[in-house]
Amino acid sequence: MKTTLAVLLIMELYGLSSGLKQHFFIKEKMTWDSASKYCKTYFHDLSTFTNENEQKQFLEDVTDQTSAAWIGLYTESGVWKWSGGENATQISWDISNKKPKDDGCAFVNKGNKKLHIIDCNTEHSFFCMNISEFVLVLQNETWEGALEYCRKQYNDLSSLSTMERLASALLEITQAETEYVWTGLRFLAGEWFWVNGDDLDYTDWCQNEQLQCPAIDLRCGALDINTRDWTHINCEEKLNFFCSVQAIDGMPPERLKSITSKKSGN
Ligand SMILES: *[C@@H]1O[C@H](CO)[C@@H](O)[C@H](O)[C@H]1NC(C)=O
Ligand SMILES: *[C@@H]1O[C@H](CO)[C@@H](O)[C@H](O)[C@H]1NC(C)=O
Ligand SMILES: *[C@@H]1O[C@H](CO)[C@@H](O)[C@H](O)[C@H]1NC(C)=O
Repeated sequence: MKTTLAVLLIMELYGLSSGLKQHFFIKEKMTWDSASKYCKTYFHDLSTFTNENEQKQFLEDVTDQTSAAWIGLYTESGVWKWSGGENATQISWDISNKKPKDDGCAFVNKGNKKLHIIDCNTEHSFFCMNISEFVLVLQNETWEGALEYCRKQYNDLSSLSTMERLASALLEITQAETEYVWTGLRFLAGEWFWVNGDDLDYTDWCQNEQLQCPAIDLRCGALDINTRDWTHINCEEKLNFFCSVQAIDGMPPERLKSITSKKSGN
């Protein structure tokens, strides 16, 4: 009984939360290395899809593919690796295409969307992806309920502690079903703070907020989906919420952070 519930919850999670990766077809033709550099400059990386859900999302995103295109999958001393560095264990090769003995890079065939291997120095179009640090959960929970959910399923209730993070959250907020969306912002013992311990240097409060001493029932932070500012509201309200994601494909959060800060440097 408990197992069923857990499975249902996880399925619901996949069904309701928005995707973590978004893929883009780049028509320009380049070698795999140049394509990788391009993606790291203008997006986050070459596209990867390491499980069935991601593969499904990839196929949904790439309807505009007009030619064979690289993805972030390559061999290093005979071991297949995803662009983030992790071993690729399940790869859906096109079985009609013989695996070459030599090292190579993987591309997605245009017609059947299956994977083929070819010399990395040949020039092809490619797929880049953007990875979201956040998941918008379309369930209605109190602030405490949201915190518990995020800590159990992901990493934590989201900290929008930099302008880049806020921007990343705002990309997803349009899908929210409630007027406000919980964030990991809380007022306790005389001060506001992010529950994950991030510094509260950057702020984006609504102009007329009285922050020094919010009323006792208005001490949880949310994003207002209309004004797109932070606001403080009653912790017992049931709202959609943003969780932060711990790791993607074994990519540690530090790596995600470095991607984010690299972006802000540009
Ligand atoms: C993808 O990420 C890059 C780098 O952060 C950003 O400049 C770009 O706007 C994003 N593209 C989309 C469509 O979200
Ligand atoms: C990746 O595969 C190689 C070769 O099979 C193995 O030696 C290595 O331990 C694997 N790494 C991980 C993280 O599984
Ligand atoms: C959450 O609340 C909103 C607004 O009241 C409602 O439209 C939505 O259906 C609710 N979502 C769930 C999953 O109950």
